[in-house]
Amino acid sequence: MRGILLAGGNGSRLWPLTRALSKQLMPVFDKPMIYYPLTTLVMAGIREILVITTPDNADQFRRLLGDGTQWGLCLRYATQPHPGGIAQALLIGEEFLAGESVALALGDNILHGAGLGRHLRTHVAVSGAHVFAYPVANPAAYGVITLDDAGQPLAIEEKPANPRSRHAVTGLYFYDSSAVKIARHLRPSARGELEITAVNQEYLRRGELRVSVLGRGTAWLDTGTFTDLVHASEYVRVVEDRQGQKIGCVEEAAWRAGLIDDAQLRALADPLRASGYGDYLLRLLTEPRPAPVTVGNRGTP
Ligand code: G1P
Repeated sequence: MRGILLAGGNGSRLWPLTRALSKQLMPVFDKPMIYYPLTTLVMAGIREILVITTPDNADQFRRLLGDGTQWGLCLRYATQPHPGGIAQALLIGEEFLAGESVALALGDNILHGAGLGRHLRTHVAVSGAHVFAYPVANPAAYGVITLDDAGQPLAIEEKPANPRSRHAVTGLYFYDSSAVKIARHLRPSARGELEITAVNQEYLRRGELRVSVLGRGTAWLDTGTFTDLVHASEYVRVVEDRQGQKIGCVEEAAWRAGLIDDAQLRALADPLRASGYGDYLLRLLTEPRPAPVTVGNRGTP
């Protein structure tokens, strides 16, 4: 399975903050926003990832993330010239995907919780589609999924005025190789976008949409508004300060997954010492290490 990390859009809901800077490069406490979904993909076991940015911001993302080899990853880049919708990422990524299944992650979504990596890894060998639902207080702001008593999906709607359930669809989607073909047949919605909800609706129509509800032990945060952005930073700061463990730390996730060794982690840490981030990475090397159950199963950074 390959990954697509979508960091397009003009971030207009955060203007003027994001007029000159990409939203997905905004700080969420101690790291750029894109580190969080990138870490989620690494924890899910994805190693080859296409990062889709706007043409204006492409250089900044390359400077931040490079080609991924420093983290044992293979990162490629593509651009989305206009905000044409999340499903357009599947078309932009068609060549990169080369007929493989895909984990599509939105660059502004943060997932955190015990056992999350393990949970995600059980769904990567997807046939059909697998999406993750999360109960929220304001479902009308999201794709909303209605489940029957057995947890089977009945309907999925994009930002319904009168949501039939509190279950929002998070910005992490696992699809088999038919997703590209489905995206190719979509028409733009009223807001002029190829909607990812329309892709999910097609999988549902085929009886191939599976849904996991993320429990209350998992946090799903998005960063759509000024307040969301501050909430996400506060959440990360509170948990990191209390536990002394970082969230969304891609270096740690790569090391725990065995993608980089101790010497490589040490080399990554050195230039980051002035901020304390490097000291955190170095401290990992001194702590007792839980025996990995399988490769890539040493915790949930
Ligand atoms: C998008 C999707 C929506 C999903 C959300 C998750 O919303 O369209 O279905 O629930 O991401 O963050 P948008 O960011 O376009 O408002």
